[in-house]
Amino acid sequence: MSVKFSDEKMKEVKELISHYPEGKEKSALIPLLHIAQGEFGGWLDVPVMDYVAELLNILPIEVYEVATFYTMFNTKPVGKYVLEVCRTGPCMVSGCDDIISYIKEKLGINEGETTPDGLFTLKPAECLGACGYAPMMQMGKTYREHLTKEKVDKLIEELRGKSNN
Ligand code: FES
Repeated sequence: MSVKFSDEKMKEVKELISHYPEGKEKSALIPLLHIAQGEFGGWLDVPVMDYVAELLNILPIEVYEVATFYTMFNTKPVGKYVLEVCRTGPCMVSGCDDIISYIKEKLGINEGETTPDGLFTLKPAECLGACGYAPMMQMGKTYREHLTKEKVDKLIEELRGKSNN
């Protein structure tokens, strides 16, 4: 994989970095990692993180530290759809364990694994700030709330359908 943003993406990256004062480009790290993850297959391989470090003129280790700390960044390959089910207190008392077990059984994978067809990754997450809608999950930029087994079935069916078209 060649690690280089397209010219168009690079414009976006430069614009982002220009929001920060000279010498403080590191402040663009988190949004830049989001862009990189979106551009390079949904995860941050070491060469991608090294590229980000080079663009921000910081040490690679500074990028690794951030990328491995936040669960929103994937440091190994993931499926097309990452199901991040919250498992913190309010979601736990509302049945997230049942939802996680159901997804595991339905997709035949464990936490952190991806289905063999490359479609789904199950990734438990900590509080996603939507406790009033527990149990919930994040999928890409959207939230799925008040989860039930039926809602999980419907979602998986929908996503499988989309991928067949
Ligand atoms: Fe699940 Fe806050 S505990 S969103």
